[in-house]
Amino acid sequence: MQDLGLSMNRNELEFVREMFDRIAPHYDFLNRLLSLRQDVYWRKTLVASLELAPGTRVLDTACGTADVGIEIKRRYGGRVSVTGIDFAPQMLRLAKPKFRDAGGGAAIGLAAADAFDLPFAAAGFDAITMAFGIRNIQDKSTVLKRFLDQLKPGGRLAILELGTPDRGMARHAYLFYFNRLLPLIGRLFSKHNFAYTYLPDSVARFPAAGEFARMMRRAGFEHVRYRPLTKGVTVLFVGDKPVV
Ligand SMILES: C[S@@+](CC[C@H](N)C(=O)[O-])C[C@H]1O[C@@H](n2cnc3c(N)ncnc32)[C@H](O)[C@@H]1O
Repeated sequence: MQDLGLSMNRNELEFVREMFDRIAPHYDFLNRLLSLRQDVYWRKTLVASLELAPGTRVLDTACGTADVGIEIKRRYGGRVSVTGIDFAPQMLRLAKPKFRDAGGGAAIGLAAADAFDLPFAAAGFDAITMAFGIRNIQDKSTVLKRFLDQLKPGGRLAILELGTPDRGMARHAYLFYFNRLLPLIGRLFSKHNFAYTYLPDSVARFPAAGEFARMMRRAGFEHVRYRPLTKGVTVLFVGDKPVV
């Protein structure tokens, strides 16, 4: 039974990796268009929540085309070092020149890696980020525990994920846009048949914010809190690794 679970998980990961490789050339453009540039504000809010001190090390997991790393660089300059990891080679290929143009140098790096199998020594990072990656991961508890291992005591995890506005007109209008219009626009520009249908499906499967916050606590994080952004279209989750 356990083998079956593991192989299903691998299939899912392989499907996600191939999908992002194929949409990579259109990814940034469609992010800005489909979110009406709100994605820029969401990443800024994520990075601000890290409250990084000079000399700290950040790991940006599922970094994609490096927009979080670039925002960290923009906000903190050379005072912090950033490493981005992603398992989709085509996303990383696009990330490289963007990262270089944003400051380059030794304080910034990229590596091909799976979030389940991070090639770093334990307790080496002051902060870990993941923007819009966690909903693609079936076994969220295991990944959260891996992140806890990678953080120094007192280190911070900040996760952004798409959500759904709770109530009222905003919810109805948003659901119409997200479930009906967005897949059409995404398909038109990306030429990918199902990536932008998978997007609302994967958001619908993501647990409610309170439930995901409980998962973070169960994985060992403390001071876990979450904050809806843009009426709950996105949610920012923050938690800290206990000091002892
Ligand atoms: C929606 S994109 C987000 C990219 C970027 N964080 C951003 O803010 O635009 C999701 C990314 O997660 C990556 N990803 C998904 N599962 C992963 C895993 N298990 N390990 C590493 N990367 C993963 C995908 O390859 C993709 O680049």
